[in-house]
Amino acid sequence: MADTNQIKHVASPLARQTLLDGDLTRPVAGGRPIRLLPWLQVVKIGGRSIMDRGHQAILPLVDELRALLPEHRLLILTGAGIRARHLYSVGLDLGLPVGSLAPLAASEAGQNGHILACLLAPEEVSYIEHPTIANQLAIHLAAARAVVGSAFPPYHHHEFPTSRIPIHRADTGAFLLADALGAAGLTIVEDVDGVYTADPNGPDGKRAHLLRETSIAELAKLQGTLPFDRALLEVMATARHIDRVQVVNGLVPGRLTAALRGRHVGTIIHTGALPN
Ligand SMILES: Nc1ncnc2c1ncn2[C@@H]1O[C@H](COP(=O)(O)OP(=O)(O)OP(=O)(O)O)[C@@H](O)[C@H]1O
Ligand SMILES: [Mg+2]
Repeated sequence: MADTNQIKHVASPLARQTLLDGDLTRPVAGGRPIRLLPWLQVVKIGGRSIMDRGHQAILPLVDELRALLPEHRLLILTGAGIRARHLYSVGLDLGLPVGSLAPLAASEAGQNGHILACLLAPEEVSYIEHPTIANQLAIHLAAARAVVGSAFPPYHHHEFPTSRIPIHRADTGAFLLADALGAAGLTIVEDVDGVYTADPNGPDGKRAHLLRETSIAELAKLQGTLPFDRALLEVMATARHIDRVQVVNGLVPGRLTAALRGRHVGTIIHTGALPN
């Protein structure tokens, strides 16, 4: 009888209080989480900026990734690109809700991942699906120096209904994963030298200048477009591990390699995470 009572009264510091009061939960939940894969480098490859350009952009980058394998263990995540844009326009025309469009776009990002994985297959690199990334990434990275996945987060019908186009796309997905895994770093590969004050390829392009080093607060003040999902700014604000992200130009050979070696070759964005 005494045993039953003890089982019913599980001792937990969170048992008797609301989870909504930050002052009460902070002593228990306010600590920094452990780093699951502290040696992992996450690389997000642009769908539109790199993959859609075909062999001219992809093959030199694959050579660079191949050469990086002895130095780094990589989670390579691909964006969706032009096919997702087409999918959004057809889906929106048919009235599909955002939660139905999100997994379809994610599968386009996955297709780009499959392409990249095929090219790196001789190096034992393969494409793995979201559930495998969530549960078996460590064992896959014990078998190979790198794996490829879709950068989209698996929000599906949980995507926020604020916009008809998913707001949490490839950049947000890559960041969420890198931070949750406590990875050593995240590098976002684009077709521009970094983040500019305005789109360098847009109408105000001539007046745009490159921000070599910036923060989420500074970027939040920029009115125009960014080379990544705007929702990423919000996610970066509450980061736990990834205190900086570098955006680099993947069309310039050597930039990704230099970034992974810790050199400043693109735009460094400081997030809300405290530096180690
Ligand atoms: N403030 C900015 N600074 C730099 N580039 C910008 C900015 N605003 C817009 N861009 C544009 O973003 C382009 C990259 O587009 P985008 O980020 O959609 O591609 P991507 O990352 O490959 O796409 P995906 O999300 O499918 O992976 C650049 O070529 C540039 O013209
Ligand atoms: Mg981008």
